[in-house]
Amino acid sequence: MRNKGALILLALIATFILAACGGAPAAQPTTAPAADATTAPAADATTAPAVDATTAPAAEGELAVGIVLPTKDEPRWIQDETRFKDALTEAGYQVEILFSEKDSAKEKANVESLLTKGIKVLIICPQDGAAAAASADAARAAGVKVISYDRLILGTDAVDYYVTFDSFAVGAQQAQYLVDKATGTGNPLYLYAGAASDNNAFVFFGGAWSVLQPKIADGTFVIKNSSEAVALQDKAELTREEQAKIIGQVTTNWDFNTAKTLAEANLTSAAAADKGNVFILAPNDGTARSIADTFASDSDVTSYLVTGQDAEKASVQYIIDGKQAMTVFKDVRTLVTDAIAASVALLEGTTPNATGSYNNGKIDVPAIQSSVISVDKDNVKAALIDSGYYPASDFTNLP
Ligand code: BGC
Repeated sequence: MRNKGALILLALIATFILAACGGAPAAQPTTAPAADATTAPAADATTAPAVDATTAPAAEGELAVGIVLPTKDEPRWIQDETRFKDALTEAGYQVEILFSEKDSAKEKANVESLLTKGIKVLIICPQDGAAAAASADAARAAGVKVISYDRLILGTDAVDYYVTFDSFAVGAQQAQYLVDKATGTGNPLYLYAGAASDNNAFVFFGGAWSVLQPKIADGTFVIKNSSEAVALQDKAELTREEQAKIIGQVTTNWDFNTAKTLAEANLTSAAAADKGNVFILAPNDGTARSIADTFASDSDVTSYLVTGQDAEKASVQYIIDGKQAMTVFKDVRTLVTDAIAASVALLEGTTPNATGSYNNGKIDVPAIQSSVISVDKDNVKAALIDSGYYPASDFTNLP
């Protein structure tokens, strides 16, 4: 086990050295950034934070890396926990993973506890991107490197690196799925979004809007549940403030119950003529299942197509059963591998490989971004089972 761990660690370091020497695959093309996120075509060495050569590499067995994730209530983050544990403990590094229970105060306490334990690198997925700046600042003050994981920490220069999926593509793929399935004009469209405290919610929505808006403008879709979106439907690109107005009206707050209550309220105020064969932009799998169940129980809804993301097991089963149309598969193993490679680089006192940067309102944070895959009933087996991501035995009636 020990040898295997050392080998994995060596492999990670070797991967990083290869990348640093230019042997890494070409930077992934980045899609159009959302209003608040900038992507640069290549890593700009001048935007990379200075590496603190005095950061002592942690000895094997020391608690080198602390990880803070937002909640255990969503299977998405349990996936990340599992994949992190698999990768890091095997590599011989002690790691502690704490959950914030969707509470920024708890998150701050988690960070402080990890700092007390002497971590050298903090990997954090913020509950609230702006509120987490204080935690990043505290880590920086303690000489600890900060990796923003999946969600960007906003408004501070104390973020050393950002590991992310192509979140703009997530929204664009969700929207493209609906567009590809729609025929004729006047198709009822219901919009839902993530939590306004999560920068990703804006990036997802921006990606979706970029694909949906032309199809709203040409009459293919008619928005049924957001007067703010209707008021802005002629604008191809929305400012952050405009996005915030729509998100404020259709937010699920990344919460199943909020999603259900909102969908119920939307259906109650919609006339039968606003239902029929409906198209639903749902931001992620958890909210998609709540929204799907709600629409399924409305007798005026003849059929519905609902999007999602995360490829959560329950949603994979929903897709197989025809209750959710699609999900966007974000291979958490890639994100974890990227985060660990960056941690190793920072522990070694070098600069992690970056393929671009995201502006967090204060600095351009060097970033690595991985691609995402649109999954529906047609490719669910190939993408998620044959690929080895999930065992077939976790599902029934696989196509
Ligand atoms: C993540 C999604 C997740 C959502 C709710 C987003 O920041 O990117 O994968 O479903 O948060 O937790």
